[in-house]
Amino acid sequence: MRAALYDRYGAGSDVLRVEEIERPEPGPGEVRVQIEYSGVNPTDWKSRSGATPRPIDGAQIPHHDGAGLIDAVGDGVDPGRIGQRVWTYLAAAGRKWGTAAQWTVVPDKQTVPLPDGVSAELGSSLGVPAITAHRCLTADGPVEGKTVLVAGGAGAVGHYAIELAKFFGARVITTVSGPEKAELARKAGADLVVNYREPSASEEISSFGPVDRIIELALGANLQLDLAVLHPGSQIVTYAAEANDPVLPVRACMNANLVLRFVLLYGVQPDALERAAADITAALTSGALTELPVYKFRLDDIAAAQDAVQSGVVGKVLVVPA
Ligand SMILES: NC(=O)c1ccc[n+]([C@@H]2O[C@H](COP(=O)([O-])OP(=O)(O)OC[C@H]3O[C@@H](n4cnc5c(N)ncnc54)[C@H](OP(=O)(O)O)[C@@H]3O)[C@@H](O)[C@H]2O)c1
Repeated sequence: MRAALYDRYGAGSDVLRVEEIERPEPGPGEVRVQIEYSGVNPTDWKSRSGATPRPIDGAQIPHHDGAGLIDAVGDGVDPGRIGQRVWTYLAAAGRKWGTAAQWTVVPDKQTVPLPDGVSAELGSSLGVPAITAHRCLTADGPVEGKTVLVAGGAGAVGHYAIELAKFFGARVITTVSGPEKAELARKAGADLVVNYREPSASEEISSFGPVDRIIELALGANLQLDLAVLHPGSQIVTYAAEANDPVLPVRACMNANLVLRFVLLYGVQPDALERAAADITAALTSGALTELPVYKFRLDDIAAAQDAVQSGVVGKVLVVPA
C-alpha cells in the first residue's frame, strides 16, 4: 500500500515521504480500515516538526483522523464489523499506523460507525476537533440551559464546540476575527457572533447575559475579556497553548471564584472518549454536525497539506490516499 511517513522531526518537505509498504494486518482487538480521507490537525504538524514531539517508533505514519471502510478485523473483534463505514480517532497516538495511508490498523473502539448519509469528508474531520470540543464542553457537567462562550468559533474545535453546545441545549456566543469567519460561526448555529478585535466585544457579550462556561484557545490573549463577561464560579476550559504562557492575575481570578480547567486529548480517559464518540454519533444522526469548507490534497502533497493547516487555513484539510 502507499503510505506517507517520517522517521525524524523536521520541516514537512524535508522529512515526509510517500512509500510503498506492506499493508498491515489487524492484530488482536484491532480493525483494518481502508482510508477514504485522512483529516489533518495542528497536532499532526506539531508532532512531525518536533514542536511538541511524540516518540517515533522506527517510522511514523501521521494523522489521527480518517474515514473509510473496515475490511478486516483481528482476534476478539466482531467479524460483523467488516464492511462498516467508520471514522477514526487517535489512530496515531502511541502507534505508528496513522491514517495518511491507503490502509491503517486501529484499536476497535477507536473506529466509530458513520451514520447513514454522513459523508466521509465530515467523518474524517471529527476525531481530534469534535472529541476535544466535547470534552471541553462536558468535563464540568452538562451545558443544557447554560450560556457558553466559544473562543474562535470558525476554527475546527470551535466549530464543533458551537454545534455540540447547541445540540446539548446551550445558548452559544462565539468570537471571530472578521466577516468570513463570522459567517461560518453563524452557519454553525451560534446565537451571537462577536468580533473579539473590536473594543466593544466585552459589552456585546455581556449584553447577552453572564457566561457560564468559556471554551478557550488563547487564555493569555483573552483572559481580560473572559473575566469581564463570566459570572462568579464559571469555568474557563483551555485546550491550546500560546507562544508565551500567560501571567495569571490571581486576585482577579479569585474575585471571580473562577475554575480553570485544561484539556489535552492525548490524556483524556477512555470512558470519556467513548462518551464523546456516542454523543457525536447522536449529534450526527440528528444532523447537528456539519462540515467546514474542505481542502483536499493528494497523498504525494502531504507536506503542503500539513503546511496549509500550520498557516491557519479556514476549514478542514483532508488528504486523499487512493
Ligand atoms: N488540547 C487538545 O487536545 C487540542 C485538541 C485540538 C486542537 N488543539 C489546539 O487548539 C488550537 C486550535 O486547533 P484547531 O484545529 O481548532 O485550529 P484552527 O482550525 O486553525 O482554528 C483556530 C482558530 O482560532 C482563532 N483564534 C486565534 N487566536 C484567537 C483569539 N485570541 N481569540 C479567538 N479566536 C482566536 C483563529 O482565527 P483568527 O486568528 O482569525 O482569530 C482560528 O479560527 C491549535 O493550537 C491546536 O493545536 C488542542
